Amino acid sequence: MRELRNQPAVRQNMYTCHEISEQEHSLWLGSLVGNARVRVFALLLESSVIGVVSLSAINLQHKTADWAFYLDTTLQGKGLGSQVEARMLDYAFGEAGLEKLNCEVLAFNTPVIALHQKFGFTIEGTRHAQIERDGQRLDVVLLGITRGQWHERREALAPLLARLARQA
Ligand SMILES: CC(C)(COP(=O)(O)OP(=O)(O)OC[C@H]1O[C@@H](n2cnc3c(N)ncnc32)[C@H](O)[C@@H]1OP(=O)(O)O)[C@@H](O)C(=O)NCCC(=O)NCCS
Repeated sequence: MRELRNQPAVRQNMYTCHEISEQEHSLWLGSLVGNARVRVFALLLESSVIGVVSLSAINLQHKTADWAFYLDTTLQGKGLGSQVEARMLDYAFGEAGLEKLNCEVLAFNTPVIALHQKFGFTIEGTRHAQIERDGQRLDVVLLGITRGQWHERREALAPLLARLARQA
């Protein structure tokens, strides 16, 4: 997981883009144990980690959470992210019992904003100058989707999801 997170094409799209040390990674892993507000999934292909998906800020009272994901650079741009996004939405509004799923994307990461919109997320706003990175302040785009919006969108996306599943 740490290797993937440290790939330049992954960390340039994250809120922090420094190289993560083994110690920092271990501390983060330790912080997940027993933490009901976070669920982190490693995506496995033949027992290698090829991606990470997380639900964070899980709020069981309001049935909300934030999510984020990244994939091994060599596997990006081939439709895998779209399949993962659909699975995550099914999980969030199914097993995890959420009613609303949110995500935040650095404003320059326009392909990922478009990807989320394809799956039915709408832009709910922009937090200006929200993140400090390398001496610059960056804008963050806030997106969200309700359970009802996903179920509606899922039907429209069925042909695409079937095609991606055949390619996998
Ligand atoms: C976000 C990510 C998981 C998407 O996975 P993916 O496998 O690349 O996604 P797909 O191949 O299904 O592509 C989805 C769409 O995004 C577009 N896309 C993905 N990466 C792109 C890139 N670098 N430049 C331009 N378009 C890109 C694809 O063209 C596709 O568009 P389409 O649906 O109109 O055809 C992956 O690109 C990634 O790990 N990026 C780095 C980390 C990141 O930005 N995470 C999101 C922040 S939470």
